[in-house]
Amino acid sequence: NWNMKNFIEDQVELIKRQVGDKKVLLALSGGVDSSVVAALLLKAIGKKLVCVHVNHGLMRKGESEGVLEVFKNQMDANLVYVDASERFLNKLAGVADPEEKRKIIGAEFIRVFEEEARKLEGIEFLAQGTIYPDIVESGTKTASVVKSHHNVGGLPDDLQFSLVEPLYHLFKDEVRACGIELGLPATMVYRQPFPGPGLGVRCLGAINKIRLEAVRESDAILREEFEIAGLDKKVWQYFTIVPDFKSVGVKDHARSYEYPVIIRAINTIDAMTASIEPIDWPILLKITDRILKEVPYINRVCYDLSPKPCATIEWE
Ligand code: XMP
Repeated sequence: NWNMKNFIEDQVELIKRQVGDKKVLLALSGGVDSSVVAALLLKAIGKKLVCVHVNHGLMRKGESEGVLEVFKNQMDANLVYVDASERFLNKLAGVADPEEKRKIIGAEFIRVFEEEARKLEGIEFLAQGTIYPDIVESGTKTASVVKSHHNVGGLPDDLQFSLVEPLYHLFKDEVRACGIELGLPATMVYRQPFPGPGLGVRCLGAINKIRLEAVRESDAILREEFEIAGLDKKVWQYFTIVPDFKSVGVKDHARSYEYPVIIRAINTIDAMTASIEPIDWPILLKITDRILKEVPYINRVCYDLSPKPCATIEWE
């Protein structure tokens, strides 16, 4: 009979058999899928798993630190931490187009990962957190690449590994159950979705440090208050956005000309359509109050009431 304990035991055996005494590389973002793959491989092959965590400078507050704490300190993983923040910000300087920003972030991510992979010796496998919906949703494109056993995601031809994809047949809820069974913290296993380009698509237009910090700090306040109110378990995705325009306000009896923060909180089944969560006024007012008091260069807070369609979930 199929249960999670058996699944894990079977996968541990399969991974051991597939990998032998070779090393496995994993890009560990801290997302649910890569985290569960890391925990599973740690159980199977321990230090023969080499995790690389690339901090692109667009992570949420405390996120990279959380990855280090769980995997390096608590689980004693072989983990390479790369702070590439400045590098990403330099590449993105002056780039305002959303799709251009995505392309730059994606390409730079692969370049950083490739550089780290080249520094390591004896790696023969690449682990990936591919799950069943990834294969179904991206149709033949991903499926065929996966089947050819080459790298998904644009690593150069001379840097090719065989793939280890232990979550290949699991749905998201099964991946979470697997993570819990493997002892990962619930905060990591049940975290809300976070896009690959991270805060980069929430700091609208050309990214600068002031607005990026404002997104990060306001997002941290929002998450804190949602947790206090129990909304973190109820709302599918919630975050803040800082646009690239200013408005006039008044602070300490003087004119201010600063940025707004926009709050977004949505519910959805499949991210194809979404409706907004009607947050209680007192909670919205408390969050607004905190953002205005605690986040520099912000003088206004707005709540986005738009469903998808016509809007999308992210603003870029
Ligand atoms: P939209 O904004 O298209 O978002 O309604 C739907 C879901 O996808 C996430 N999203 C992304 N995820 N890379 C990702 O990995 C991206 O470039 C990206 N853009 C949007 C978004 O957070 C939402 O969950």
